[in-house]
Amino acid sequence: MSLLGPVQSVAALEPRKGRGAVKYALPATDGVSIDAANEVILCRNAGEVYAFALSCPHQNTALKVMSKNAGFQCPRHKSKYLPNGTFVSGRATRNMDRLQITRDGATITVDPDIAFESDTDPAKWGAAVVKV
Ligand code: FES
Repeated sequence: MSLLGPVQSVAALEPRKGRGAVKYALPATDGVSIDAANEVILCRNAGEVYAFALSCPHQNTALKVMSKNAGFQCPRHKSKYLPNGTFVSGRATRNMDRLQITRDGATITVDPDIAFESDTDPAKWGAAVVKV
């Protein structure tokens, strides 16, 4: 699979002031957006929205988006992940780290400082999703 299909850049609705949550517009369609400033990946796929840490859980390399909403791949050691962050193959030993996410109407709130790791906190990792 090729890397980097059309990926949108997204900015927080307001600049982040130090630490704390950031707000985004709810993605209107399936696809991936990256907020590089806050190191957040937003992904809407099949009725669900996730926020992921931009870095690979193996050795912190910035993840890339595979074309056609096929998920994510790490350019360093080629780990692959599904659009919901589930680990598929490669050197990583867990799923992509999901960030705390909530929805209020058409706004998504994400806290880049609150990440859930699938191996140490599978319940919170599994619950870190917004249904749309
Ligand atoms: S840093 Fe991503 S697989 Fe190694």
